Amino acid sequence: MSSRRAHTDRHRERPRARRRDVLSLSAVAFAAAVVATGCSDGKKEPAGGEMTPIRDLNPAPDIVEVNLIASEAQQRFLADGPATVWAYRDGSVEGARATVPGPLIEASQGDTVIVHFRNELPDSTTVHWHGVRVPNGSDGTLATQPEVAPGGTFDYRFVVVDAGTFWYHPHVRGDVQVERGLYGMLVVKGAPDVAVNVERRFILDDVKLEATGELSATTDPLDVMLGRQGNVLLVNGTTALELRAESGARERWRFVNAANGRYFNLRLPDHTFRVIGWDGGMLAQPYDADALLIAPGERYEVLVELRGEVGAKLALQTVYYDRGHNVPDPGPQDLLTLKLTDTAPAVAALPTAWGEFATLPFDDTTPVQKLVLTEDEGSPGQDPQFFINGRKFPDVEPLTGTEDDLAIWSVQNDSEMDHPFHLHGMLFQVIDIGGVKPAQTGWKDTVNVPQKTTLRFAVRYGAPGEWMFHCHILEHAERGMMNSIRVGAKP
Ligand code: C2O
Ligand code: CU
Ligand code: CU
Repeated sequence: MSSRRAHTDRHRERPRARRRDVLSLSAVAFAAAVVATGCSDGKKEPAGGEMTPIRDLNPAPDIVEVNLIASEAQQRFLADGPATVWAYRDGSVEGARATVPGPLIEASQGDTVIVHFRNELPDSTTVHWHGVRVPNGSDGTLATQPEVAPGGTFDYRFVVVDAGTFWYHPHVRGDVQVERGLYGMLVVKGAPDVAVNVERRFILDDVKLEATGELSATTDPLDVMLGRQGNVLLVNGTTALELRAESGARERWRFVNAANGRYFNLRLPDHTFRVIGWDGGMLAQPYDADALLIAPGERYEVLVELRGEVGAKLALQTVYYDRGHNVPDPGPQDLLTLKLTDTAPAVAALPTAWGEFATLPFDDTTPVQKLVLTEDEGSPGQDPQFFINGRKFPDVEPLTGTEDDLAIWSVQNDSEMDHPFHLHGMLFQVIDIGGVKPAQTGWKDTVNVPQKTTLRFAVRYGAPGEWMFHCHILEHAERGMMNSIRVGAKP
């Protein structure tokens, strides 16, 4: 299958040299125990698990205009008690509840999206449209706008030029704000039409809960090193989600990994994922995968053909992935259960053509931008630090480029853990990972750079403006592993 299998295999071959253990076994055993409890008696909320679509106020068919509000809210993840979260709600619906995840924003390729945002949080914030090629002024970073103060408003406006699965989240103190629940999905529909029995959308996350059910207020060095990994796994804000499904159904699933630091490596036992799209849209050629690794910030779209007898239950699981620092294997963990209640009616054949994709015409003369990712674990008890080219954001020198120019970025990960690298405002094509050309090609905005490996991608610089790039482990980004590129207008 994919490049992913290629790097996993390389990891297996590589001698497990003296990597420092940052995870104590007891911490993980504790986390696993809590997750297990959470899953077995976590059926407290009505099983819904679907995101509520936001109301489109604009009658024009090609304009999606919405009111989005961020505020404090209560959400019960486990029986123990509600957690105080920060969450989005639909500002056009009287009495709408702010939820984790926030309301689903849906548009069609080419639509104009207008978001009237209001901040009712006790802290200032912004909204970033992850993966969407917005004009710079709507990118929601501090390079493009001031923070929206409590009580303040900001209008975001952009045309969704790419069809795909995107998401929105704050871009200030992301490690805290996203972790508290500020994230939602943006789906942009486009060609081809794929006939399916059911389409589902899943935002994956985890939360670190106290015994009271509240979000943990402490951040320990391990949370910083790995990105906070919670003790309860969430799909669409729900633990142990149970969904009804039909045997024989062809389902389309869109995934977003909104976790600060957790890698999800999905598996549906006895089934195969047919990966049809990721990040920036459809793949030119779908591929089959038994396991689907989704690093923080990444998105994937898959088809599954559900098999099993009526009455059977299928569990979507996340399984071990070696992300570095000797993170131990907690064993497979269930994310949700599908109960087969019926037999599905047949659906039309799959399309024969998928995404459109032309390889960027890079060659030996294409300028190379070299970026080296490093970490400093610090002395025991101290927070680790993270760097790009030896510099820590905001003490950095932004890169420069010119709109439409082609470049190769060589991202060399010198650290002992993987980092999901994300670039705003443009899409790129991976050239090679550790010198190996990936088996699949498609448009990415976030890509996992494996430990001790160099990944190269080709990019054509996007619209003028200042575009951030950073590790999408939000603790790393907020502790230095971030910079920007200033793209100038074409002469
Ligand atoms: Cu999803 Cu700069 O982030
Ligand atoms: Cu982004
Ligand atoms: Cu990182």
